[in-house]
Amino acid sequence: MSYEVLARRWRPQTFDDVVGHAHAVTALRNAIELGRLPHALLLCGPRGVGKTTLARIIARGLNCEQGPTASPCGSCDPCREIAAGTSLDVQEVDAASNTGVDSVREIRESVRYAAAPGRHRIFIIDEVHMLSTAAFNALLKTLEEPPPRSLFVLATTDPQKIPATVLSRVQRFDLKTLPAAEVLGRLLEIARAEELEIPESVLRALVREGGGSVRDSLTLLDRLTSGLGAKISEAEAAAVLDLIDRRVVVAIVEPVLAGDPGQALLALRAALERGIEPSRLAADLLAELRDLLVARLVEDPGALIDAAPEEVEAIRERASAHAPETLQQLFRVLLTRNQDLAHAPRPDHVLEMAVARLASLPGAEDIGRLLARLDALDGGGPSRPGPAGGGEGGGRARGGRAAAGTARAGASAGPPAAQARRRSPEAEAKQRKQAREHPKVREVIEALDAELVEVRLPRGTEGA
Ligand SMILES: Nc1ncnc2c1ncn2[C@@H]1O[C@H](COP(=O)(O)OP(=O)(O)OP(=O)(O)O)[C@@H](O)[C@H]1O
Ligand SMILES: [Mg+2]
Ligand SMILES: [Zn+2]
Repeated sequence: MSYEVLARRWRPQTFDDVVGHAHAVTALRNAIELGRLPHALLLCGPRGVGKTTLARIIARGLNCEQGPTASPCGSCDPCREIAAGTSLDVQEVDAASNTGVDSVREIRESVRYAAAPGRHRIFIIDEVHMLSTAAFNALLKTLEEPPPRSLFVLATTDPQKIPATVLSRVQRFDLKTLPAAEVLGRLLEIARAEELEIPESVLRALVREGGGSVRDSLTLLDRLTSGLGAKISEAEAAAVLDLIDRRVVVAIVEPVLAGDPGQALLALRAALERGIEPSRLAADLLAELRDLLVARLVEDPGALIDAAPEEVEAIRERASAHAPETLQQLFRVLLTRNQDLAHAPRPDHVLEMAVARLASLPGAEDIGRLLARLDALDGGGPSRPGPAGGGEGGGRARGGRAAAGTARAGASAGPPAAQARRRSPEAEAKQRKQAREHPKVREVIEALDAELVEVRLPRGTEGA
């Protein structure tokens, strides 16, 4: 027996099984129930989000023996024939492989035969944007004078390529890529029904890689099960799909944030030696910095971060030790360097330089701390933290960065224990605010920004 891929086996047979697209689904359901379905529909949307699926459900809804109904029974002859693709009333044309006028002529020929009593004739034209101009013109005539009880469902990933004359004769539905939570829900359901032993973290990774397409995520799941069987561990999945474990990324980002370039470089090299592409790794480093920033700024970041709740909590915990400005700054610097990766003879070296640079950038808090220290040396007010006092704010993970900053300032660093001591969040925020407004800090920040400009300049002038 040949294996039926998951995406096929799990094609929704009713509107209830369709994930997402609430707008389109509700409108189509109502239209069928009320007998108000227009005679031509256009379903637009990226690949694998349910266009063909919806077209077939509509066909069943119209031709089900209980129908027209928004809840086709699934067991009558028409329902089963449509599911199996053998119904004579439903004609599917793949415009991608039949771009010419002949395929449309064929449709027009067959349109002339009336549907059997109580039935509709449904023409599904997939990838309709691929039709030639002549074919579109031929189609127009049919759309203008549709025979009774006929329905045209046009589907496309590229609505811009469809002539306005066609657009004006169809009712259009736009399907979007699906939210991660919805795809995950579907994968969990399918994994349970298929009795797969697979961690949710792996399914989440499949959702991420699928980019909002249910089919793409299911195809990846097929790849896992065909290689590994029904029992799949996180490590095995990562190896098969070439996924980057978040821990690999965290191992690099943490020393960067702690101001430890040596450790960051070692972690980076370890990741590269696992065969991870520098450009993918850079993208994941950027994503991690983005997640940290979001977690730092948003009270309940769960909806904005694509990870399991425990993981979101861990990200929040890591983020709490860093100023949003620092995270933003690191993101920007990495993004700028990232653009060099594509053209470099050794992208891994470019990434190393970028990571080393990131780990050596002074953070926003360090500048504040430095200035506070300078003020204290100048005999500043008592509210300023003293050299060995409780002023080593900024949090645990930033000890390394703080120490480096202090050494650079030429002032004596406090004992490590004092550095580990934490200040209240309010005091920290106040200190940071003061620091940001300080003219010297402005100067440093402007200098850093100037550096970004310098980095960009050579490329801008290259073409000139
Ligand atoms: N919204 C959805 N809900 C549930 N499953 C879906 C959904 N969209 C896609 N799928 C799954 O993906 C498979 C492919 O979907 P479908 O053929 O409808 O995609 P499509 O939008 O027509 O893609 P293409 O543009 O590549 O033709 C389905 O068989 C089903 O398993
Ligand atoms: Mg399709
Ligand atoms: Zn039926």
